[in-house]
Amino acid sequence: MAIFFTLMLIIAVIFFFPIQAVFSAVDTIEPYKTIGDGTTLISIGGIFELGFFSRGNSKNRYVGIWYKNIPVQTVVWVANRCNPIVDSFGSLTINSTGNLVLLDHNKSVIWSTNSSKQAKKPIAQLLDSGNLVLRDEEDVNSETNYLWQSFDYPSDTLLPNMKFRWDLKSGLKRRLSAWKNWDDPCPGDFTHGTEFDPQLQTFTEFYFRKGTKKFYRTGPWNGLRFSGSPDLRTNPLYGFDFVDTEDEVYFIYDLKNKSVISILVLNQTTSLRERLIWIEAEKIWRTYASFPRDGCDKYGVCGANANCLINDNPICHCLKGFKPKSQEKWNSMDWSEGCVRSSPLNCLEKEKDGFIKFSDLKVPDTTRSWVNKSMNLKECRAKCLSDCSCTAYTNSDITGQGSGCVIWYDDLIDIRQFSDTGHDLFIRISRLELGKINDNKIRIVIPVAVVGGVTGMLLLGYFIWRRYLKDKTDRNETSRKNGGQEEDLELPLFNLSTIATATENFLVDNKLGEGGFGSVYRGKLEDGKQIAVKRLSISSRQGVKELKNEVKLIAKLQHRNLVTLLGCCIQGEEKVLVYEYMSNKSLDSFIFGQNEGKLLEWSKRFEIIYGIARGLQYLHQDSRLRVIHRDLKASNILLDSEMNPKISDFGLARTFVGDHTEEKTNRVIGTYGYMAPEYAINGFFSIKSDVFSFGVLVLEIITGKKSRGFHGDNHDLTLIGHAWMLHNEGNSFGLLDQHSMESAYDLKQVLRCIHIGLLCVQKSPADRPNMSSVVFMLQSESELPQPKPPGYFTEMDSTKANSSSIKPKPSSTNDVSISLVEAR
Ligand SMILES: *[C@@H]1O[C@H](CO)[C@@H](O)[C@H](O)[C@H]1NC(C)=O
Ligand SMILES: *[C@@H]1O[C@H](CO)[C@@H](O)[C@H](O)[C@H]1NC(C)=O
Ligand SMILES: *[C@@H]1O[C@H](CO)[C@@H](O)[C@H](O)[C@H]1NC(C)=O
Ligand SMILES: *[C@@H]1O[C@H](CO)[C@@H](O)[C@H](O)[C@H]1NC(C)=O
Ligand SMILES: *[C@@H]1O[C@H](CO)[C@@H](O)[C@H](O)[C@H]1NC(C)=O
Ligand SMILES: *[C@@H]1O[C@H](CO)[C@@H](O)[C@H](O)[C@H]1NC(C)=O
Repeated sequence: MAIFFTLMLIIAVIFFFPIQAVFSAVDTIEPYKTIGDGTTLISIGGIFELGFFSRGNSKNRYVGIWYKNIPVQTVVWVANRCNPIVDSFGSLTINSTGNLVLLDHNKSVIWSTNSSKQAKKPIAQLLDSGNLVLRDEEDVNSETNYLWQSFDYPSDTLLPNMKFRWDLKSGLKRRLSAWKNWDDPCPGDFTHGTEFDPQLQTFTEFYFRKGTKKFYRTGPWNGLRFSGSPDLRTNPLYGFDFVDTEDEVYFIYDLKNKSVISILVLNQTTSLRERLIWIEAEKIWRTYASFPRDGCDKYGVCGANANCLINDNPICHCLKGFKPKSQEKWNSMDWSEGCVRSSPLNCLEKEKDGFIKFSDLKVPDTTRSWVNKSMNLKECRAKCLSDCSCTAYTNSDITGQGSGCVIWYDDLIDIRQFSDTGHDLFIRISRLELGKINDNKIRIVIPVAVVGGVTGMLLLGYFIWRRYLKDKTDRNETSRKNGGQEEDLELPLFNLSTIATATENFLVDNKLGEGGFGSVYRGKLEDGKQIAVKRLSISSRQGVKELKNEVKLIAKLQHRNLVTLLGCCIQGEEKVLVYEYMSNKSLDSFIFGQNEGKLLEWSKRFEIIYGIARGLQYLHQDSRLRVIHRDLKASNILLDSEMNPKISDFGLARTFVGDHTEEKTNRVIGTYGYMAPEYAINGFFSIKSDVFSFGVLVLEIITGKKSRGFHGDNHDLTLIGHAWMLHNEGNSFGLLDQHSMESAYDLKQVLRCIHIGLLCVQKSPADRPNMSSVVFMLQSESELPQPKPPGYFTEMDSTKANSSSIKPKPSSTNDVSISLVEAR
């Protein structure tokens, strides 16, 4: 009986216990239990195994995790990566303070977890995900609340459902690092992880590094994929997601078919991150995809401010508006120095810079970037323009209509061209360069404006242009597709019915005024936006094509002191221009009107003078087209709700090319009181004739008196002559408008403005400063040259100018632009 019992016991020990052993306790290590070399943990579903392993002929023993059922041992995680145990007497245990420790023969700690919390009942467990976790069985949330987990300290492998993350709360950053060699799990210098600066709010992306050098980057997440990985798309193998919150940032993927095995691995030897798939039939790992893919993926291969086009030879191209820093090196295929701007940005005058739109780019390195997910593209553009070091911007998320704002500073590094990522990038460039880029167009358009302009153009215009729809901010910026340049200058056409509805069929009550070439109406679009509608008179001779060309041409002009044209409407006989509505109408009503004049204290007047000077400077010198306005006067200065001045009415404007700044016309058109003598008498107009008109305007703004019809107290002096006299007497402050004197004013500034005004109305154009000098003089305290006697000193001069060989056309109001000379 006893023998039988013993036999049964032996049978039980042999057959029963091993079976039981497989099904119990082997996925965990409990306190005071030890796993020695030769024993392993197996995750509950039998997917992963943890134990001691060696590679090659080496005696070095490492603790690692591998796929249980794959015959080619695939180690996905290693504990003691650089610290092998040199014999087979290593052991894993949980020590008395609750950490999992790897001990050698002499019981010294080779490796350990470093949980900062002491568990009541610590337990280490290998999960079916491949995650080795340390948790507290007393903790009710212990299934998710890990004290430590191997997923936080990845080796070279990113497993499915493993968050590749940066924990912003704890500061923990996960980073993959390749094995030094196939038989040495110690980290090599090839690493991969996310890098961004949460303090500086830089845009998040993942980098691959070789040592400290950047090797490849994924590009930032754009809502759909990484900007540098257009092929990261919906696929049968895996799903993926990128999460970016205040607490954590991570990338994660999961396999669609749970019976497929696939991992992402960094390989030091090949310098690739490969996606491998286990092919059970052949018992091999097969590469599904690997990064970097080609020469353009090599970090910064083309240097700064260049684009990489993989199908071109050579692959590197400077971005438009940039040129090789060293042409010689560039020619010999050494692109390392990259490209520099062909013309510098004009930071201080923010409207001087524009943007070129590039499509389907891998956006630049985000190390020097800034992101705000709630701003829209328009705010983004403004933010970029307001910052001197901003060089590019775009939406941070391209899902749907696009949202969010990311801007870049300084040099743009590591850009490449794809055929379809859907990610646009707006690169800042000086207007000068923007002009060159559109060279082809300009050559066509300018002759129309200058040559054809003499007849048709003079009648029509008002062609300042800006963005017209908020969500189409960058309509007036050129775009680039697949490496080729493409003009993106659609003409925003309004429907006549829209205009008719907005103005209640051009209702007389809505009429704001009558100008030289048509009537202006107030209107209200369906969305409530107020507009000013200029209905050009039917008799205007300009053709539709020319009108369109002009609007497009002037579309390039943008300045805060120029009125914004929102669009136009050309339908049948009707030609209509649509402007932003200026709630304060024009300057003349403020300075010449009795009541409003009171509202304009000196500081406001000065701001207006300064604003007009800036607008005019832009027209003369800074815009890509040089423009002579030819009809600067108080009624053509519109004021927005904040009383910012905006130059309007470009009906008489003329463009000129290069330094050619003077022209003669047989058809003198302008407004009495503002015209420079050489223009009124001989038909010579130039930027200096605009300067003269500006000078008159300055004196008007200061005195509150109209130049035309000015009656001095006791003599026949013009306003100019009057100012000149008082200036010579040292009494020029007496010019200051009564109303201005009632409030605080800066006498020095007033006198300086009068002085500058007098310099602008000098008789000889050569004696007048250009507008840049005027702007400079207005804002500095530099010594001013003494003015000589001005033009139109007396009423007699003025009359002479107006009547000598000139027959003014009759006009209903004396302030309407009129034609003084009819040619031949
Ligand atoms: C347990 O291991 C951790 C990590 O090595 C160590 O900090 C701690 O001192 C150990 N506790 C004891 C009692 O040795
Ligand atoms: C263990 O200790 C012995 C002597 O104390 C030493 O010779 C040996 O190198 C140690 N072994 C390890 C693996 O550190
Ligand atoms: C644990 O050790 C890792 C290095 O292995 C270190 O980066 C981390 O800060 C440590 N965590 C704690 C809580 O000490
Ligand atoms: C890296 O790739 C090479 C070539 O495919 C391969 O022989 C080697 O085993 C890989 N290294 C590791 C650590 O997997
Ligand atoms: C999942 O993969 C296995 C093995 O490749 C295959 O036999 C099975 O049909 C797949 N299942 C689905 C739903 O695709
Ligand atoms: C982001 O932009 C929004 C909208 O312009 C603004 O309200 C918010 O303060 C900005 N956030 C940061 C952190 O700048």
